[in-house]
Amino acid sequence: MPTSAKWLDGLTALARLAVLRFTGAGGGAPTLTLPRWAGEGTSACPRKLRQSLPRPAGEDRWGQVTLVGAGPGDPDLLTVAAVKALAAAEVVLYDALVGDGILDLSHPKAERICVGKRSGRHSLPQGEINALIAFHARRGKRVVRLKGGDPMVFGRAGEEIEHLDSLGIPVRVIPGITAALGCAASTGLSLTKRGVSRAVTFVTAHGRDGERFEPDWARLADPQGTLAIYMGREQARAVGQGLTGAGLPAATPVLAVENGCRPDERRYWTTLGRMAEQGVAAGKGPTLLLVGEALRPRQAINKMVGTADPIDLRALGDLAQGFDHD
Ligand SMILES: C[S@@+](CC[C@H](N)C(=O)[O-])C[C@H]1O[C@@H](n2cnc3c(N)ncnc32)[C@H](O)[C@@H]1O
Repeated sequence: MPTSAKWLDGLTALARLAVLRFTGAGGGAPTLTLPRWAGEGTSACPRKLRQSLPRPAGEDRWGQVTLVGAGPGDPDLLTVAAVKALAAAEVVLYDALVGDGILDLSHPKAERICVGKRSGRHSLPQGEINALIAFHARRGKRVVRLKGGDPMVFGRAGEEIEHLDSLGIPVRVIPGITAALGCAASTGLSLTKRGVSRAVTFVTAHGRDGERFEPDWARLADPQGTLAIYMGREQARAVGQGLTGAGLPAATPVLAVENGCRPDERRYWTTLGRMAEQGVAAGKGPTLLLVGEALRPRQAINKMVGTADPIDLRALGDLAQGFDHD
């Protein structure tokens, strides 16, 4: 077992001890009895729960809610605070993007409820997720709402916090590593670079509930900036067309990272011009588009040939010119 995993195990064990002491229960957190609809994968939730619920009789304390950033996928990238919160949680509501290795850090007796897209099912509507979080908090439970990346970056944390605020339920946020920063680290490419990129913009290429996506291309097309485009794979051609149309050179490097920071991470290099014509070849995993001069592949990439690194050098195209990778 790697040292970091041992350390994490030790930390988790400590946090679990803390839970036992806190609850005073020798066998860990109490087993929860949940309504039928609250089970994993259930997509129905009574409409009345969209309204604020009365506090159940007999409860002598409010529960508390912690929004926890799960990072891009590697459990080693969780914060210590996230590990502690997971170990102490009685109810964990998680998104589909959160990996099993991370979920396994929650208490074995904690109720785990998937509220994200799974096996072709749609995620619960946001209003029902809000109601579900509030429901468990009002039962006096320690609730963790576990989200991929950072909860405050394209994570709808704002909507959940507003809902809990409106009910007077205490809420805390534990940040996570957002996809852009995780992908920059795993590829070893800095998003800012002296003399090359002086700004980073996080932007989504996804319209709300299927609405048409039409960002202000002229504002985004900064030749001295880096764009981190979330939920952009399906819109890749439109992104390429919009940015080149607004004046960014067609030769600007684009790096699409699929399943960043996971064992099956894949990287696809292209140029803005080629992306405008062909989109990106990434598969179905979560994919981040990084656009800008700072994304020019490192010279060291040629050393990776013949290793297990998943870079498809043919996809480097023009960007790889001058690289000795035969
Ligand atoms: C709904 S957003 C959630 C973003 C998340 N809150 C964060 O801070 O990373 C989902 C999008 O984030 C990006 N994403 C999340 N995890 C990723 C990963 N491991 N690798 C690449 N992109 C990822 C993809 O663009 C995906 O479509």
